[in-house]
Amino acid sequence: MFGSRLPNKPSRGAAAVVTGAGSGIGRAFALEIARRGGTVLCSDINLTTAEETVALIEALGGQAWAFKCDVSKLNQVEALADEAERVLPAPVSLVINNAGVGVGGKPVGEAAMADWKWTLGINLWGVIHGCHVFTPKLKALGHGGIINVASTASFSAAPLMGAYNVTKAGALALTETMAAELAGSGISVTALCPTLVKTNIKANGRIIGESSKLFDRLMDRCGMSPERVVNDALKALDRGDLYVMPQFDARMIWRAKRLIPRTYALGTGLINRFGVSRLH
Ligand SMILES: NC(=O)c1ccc[n+]([C@@H]2O[C@H](COP(=O)([O-])OP(=O)(O)OC[C@H]3O[C@@H](n4cnc5c(N)ncnc54)[C@H](O)[C@@H]3O)[C@@H](O)[C@H]2O)c1
Repeated sequence: MFGSRLPNKPSRGAAAVVTGAGSGIGRAFALEIARRGGTVLCSDINLTTAEETVALIEALGGQAWAFKCDVSKLNQVEALADEAERVLPAPVSLVINNAGVGVGGKPVGEAAMADWKWTLGINLWGVIHGCHVFTPKLKALGHGGIINVASTASFSAAPLMGAYNVTKAGALALTETMAAELAGSGISVTALCPTLVKTNIKANGRIIGESSKLFDRLMDRCGMSPERVVNDALKALDRGDLYVMPQFDARMIWRAKRLIPRTYALGTGLINRFGVSRLH
């Protein structure tokens, strides 16, 4: 199986580690990597859901293992790398830094410090830990890929989401830095920047107040599946694309921020001033 892996197609026949693999986008990554002939170490802070993902992969005829790992703790990510060396049939060639939580509903100054620290610990430090631990291993291998799951929040600066926005901007900056550092190394690096995707992010997160109601409404109408986002991301990785923005609105926000930054800031400010409740 591994002999067929093409160095320039990191998503095919990979020996992969996926964080947050027990739900949503992480589970979809694990399943799709297995469908593409890969073996997957499925890690999550919730071992039961990671084991469910493994069972789904095994039902497809694939090979996977579950491991409990809180990405906010460096020693647990190091233990994840040790486990990958122990169970995977080849050195790790693909890392999906996906684990993350949703937080929002309060402006800067009112948002609880505990929520800031919780969010930064998982969404930003989790990605830093994953990149810090696995990049030297990929460099030693000489090929492979890393996908950091960022968000449109990496650049949209939407109000009442300060902590989340900061973590996702950091994840994007880190991915861009690594793309420069790893240029010519044979290792592809991609930042996945979706808008809304139908997952359990609200149930697993801390989105409160009017933002909570708005999020529920938007999620009810959301037609984007984790499977589609993951397919786009893996194709982008194989092409060597740094950014993947699966949705039209993500690409529009990206352009607006660059082409009409003052108008964009005015628009988001107006939305905040007149209240997100009016958007219902
Ligand atoms: N759903 C969306 O609309 C959306 C949009 C843009 C970006 N994202 C990003 O996608 C990623 C995946 O989120 P999702 O939407 O699939 O949500 P989800 O809640 O369905 O899945 C997240 C998974 O991460 C795990 N997790 C949480 N804290 C963890 C920790 N400390 N260590 C390890 N695992 C942990 C959870 O147990 C869960 O299985 C996140 O980084 C999120 O910010 C989601």
